[in-house]
Amino acid sequence: MSSTPDVMTAFTSGLADINLDESGGTRRSANAAGMKSASATIYDMAATLSGQGTLWNWGMYDPDLAKEMRARVPGFGEPWTDGFSEQLYFLALRDLPIDLGNYAGRHVLEVGCGMGEGLNLLSRIAPGARMTGLDLSPKAVDRATATLSRGDALTFVHGDAEDLPFEDASVDVLVNIESSHTYPDLGKFLGEAARVLRPGGFLSHIDVYTRQRTETMRRTAEETEGLDWKSDHDISDRVRAAVRRRMAPGSHFRTTLGKQRMNPLVRQIAAHSQILMFGGMFAGYQPSPTIKALNKMGIVPWMSGLPMESYRHRIAVRR
Ligand SMILES: C[S@@+](CC[C@H](N)C(=O)[O-])C[C@H]1O[C@@H](n2cnc3c(N)ncnc32)[C@H](O)[C@@H]1O
Repeated sequence: MSSTPDVMTAFTSGLADINLDESGGTRRSANAAGMKSASATIYDMAATLSGQGTLWNWGMYDPDLAKEMRARVPGFGEPWTDGFSEQLYFLALRDLPIDLGNYAGRHVLEVGCGMGEGLNLLSRIAPGARMTGLDLSPKAVDRATATLSRGDALTFVHGDAEDLPFEDASVDVLVNIESSHTYPDLGKFLGEAARVLRPGGFLSHIDVYTRQRTETMRRTAEETEGLDWKSDHDISDRVRAAVRRRMAPGSHFRTTLGKQRMNPLVRQIAAHSQILMFGGMFAGYQPSPTIKALNKMGIVPWMSGLPMESYRHRIAVRR
């Protein structure tokens, strides 16, 4: 796998393989190693191209939650972010039965931390914890380390969600945000989560689901030893609300893209790809006639994402 189109093809077919699997997870992804290699390459590219402060999830819009978050982190928000992606991070900790002022000495692990900005925010929301971010993309980890690491308080490591480089029972809270839909073997990841969590520790798991992946998750969660599932909240409406706000002309999301120098047609194509990547189809996005015409000419190949049905926040406790 060498050229960018080859990597994109391997990534999109791997995603389809994982998320449209009708077997409830009993048929593991046909080419797990190829998918992981494509995933690392794609997010390496994203880490090279993304501006500082960028998060890579679809975000959620909940004005009350945003208000609560701003009260905890004074000065948070505009002009550098719309805050939607950060709200998902806030939700991940805030909905656990641990007071946010009571994190001192706890070990928080984020699996699939991207460039680390979300975990950096959590370190301000829940001060005193030891926070570790892990990601499959070496470049994302390098950037996070270079720009955000702070001694023991915030460190980043390269690794795979399905084979975590941590001791048994060494983690108090494991956060996983919009990452597990790319893991070929969800059971391996949940098994690793159960292994590294201390008894009484929490898994806060947020992700997007196709119909088939919902079944895989249901079955895998049931089969994973050591985890008691405490809640399963459908947050799709709040995620769609964030994506729609981002798609609107003049939004922070679109203006940021607008500031980059490119010709207007390239800008339209870039905006289209970005809207697709950030949940456009999930929120009812329709490509413009220009994009449709470019698609017919073979210039814009990507017209849709996977048929995602819901976006959910699940919490489990380690027995
Ligand atoms: C959509 S991004 C989300 C990043 C971050 N959680 C956020 O919300 O901004 C998915 C992340 O999962 C990482 N990832 C994918 N497969 C992984 C794996 N097997 N192990 C660890 N990280 C993985 C990717 O490199 C990427 O950084």
